[in-house]
Amino acid sequence: MRAWQVPELGEPLAVVREADLPVPEPSPGQVVVRTLATAANFPDVLLCRGLYQVKPDLPFTPGVELCGEVVALGEGVEGFTVGQRVLGASALPHGGFAEYAALTAAQAFPAPASLDDAQASSLFIGYQTGWFGLHRRAHLQAGETLLVHAAAGGVGSAAVQLGKAAGARVIGVVGGPEKAEVARALGADVVIDRHTQDFVEVVKAETDGRGADVIYDPVGGETYQRSTKCIAFEGRILIIGFAGGTIQKAALNHALIKNYSIVGLHWGLYNRYDPSAVQQCHAELTSLADQGVVNPLVSERLAFDAVPDGLQRLGDGTTVGRVVYQADR
Ligand SMILES: NC(=O)c1ccc[n+]([C@@H]2O[C@H](COP(=O)([O-])OP(=O)(O)OC[C@H]3O[C@@H](n4cnc5c(N)ncnc54)[C@H](OP(=O)(O)O)[C@@H]3O)[C@@H](O)[C@H]2O)c1
Repeated sequence: MRAWQVPELGEPLAVVREADLPVPEPSPGQVVVRTLATAANFPDVLLCRGLYQVKPDLPFTPGVELCGEVVALGEGVEGFTVGQRVLGASALPHGGFAEYAALTAAQAFPAPASLDDAQASSLFIGYQTGWFGLHRRAHLQAGETLLVHAAAGGVGSAAVQLGKAAGARVIGVVGGPEKAEVARALGADVVIDRHTQDFVEVVKAETDGRGADVIYDPVGGETYQRSTKCIAFEGRILIIGFAGGTIQKAALNHALIKNYSIVGLHWGLYNRYDPSAVQQCHAELTSLADQGVVNPLVSERLAFDAVPDGLQRLGDGTTVGRVVYQADR
């Protein structure tokens, strides 16, 4: 089969190379799928760079999130049928940027009929992270103000839609006028272009000086530090990621003085510690997708040959929504 592989670490465009590989055999507890679509995620870029918390042996095939058609079931797998359309997280080293991929059955779910393959491939990591972050960790309430950084990006666009679905007032921060248009179209009530505006000042002005109740931060570094200047009394800052490249340190005296919470989220751990909650979340997301409330933003559908370039642009911070490898293109 055709597959992209990472044989050495570095920038995606430099290290993602084509390989001719055998179709993976399912290990016990796995399903193997014919790849229909694979959404590029920032963790794919971090995997290429060797900067992700998971460090698979080289070479591996990236593509952490996908939609595929089940072709083989491993020992002990129940509840799936050959031919079924599923979505979920890949089991590395057999990631989704290949004609066939492996998934741990416990992290594979029926793909909603209301979503096409590319959208279905984008419903898992970003939306589950948004749902667990906003609801389980930050307890977002209707009527509260939610500030989302990188609001036009993969996890950010999901957080905007889920925040609106929860009845929050959503303020999105983005880099540049095109991304601002995207964030508006996603439903953000207020959009801030960080290239030309100071988000701290705008958030204070929009909240009569109170600040945002929940801040969703996939960027980190200076973005986190500035966020502490516009977090409300009893606000919650969700630590989602460090796409800006700097892992910040927190001033705990400031959290005490202003009475806010710094809330970490590693969504993947719920698969280990509370898998039934992941299932419930998928059911909820499927229902929201069927109602059209959740509508994954697929900005590009890439042919196989375009995958390394798409990953590089994601890493460079210039993509919006999800850039997706679609197998039939
Ligand atoms: N905690 C969890 O469980 C979890 C789960 C999934 C993903 N994540 C993390 O969430 C983050 C976002 O992932 P994603 O796939 O959705 O990516 P993404 O948000 O689509 O892309 C990253 C965005 O970050 C912003 N950014 C700011 N400074 C940047 C820089 N120096 N380089 C690149 N981007 C920069 C850019 O948006 P603007 O220009 O609009 O600011 C860019 O579009 C990643 O750090 C990822 O590891 C965490």
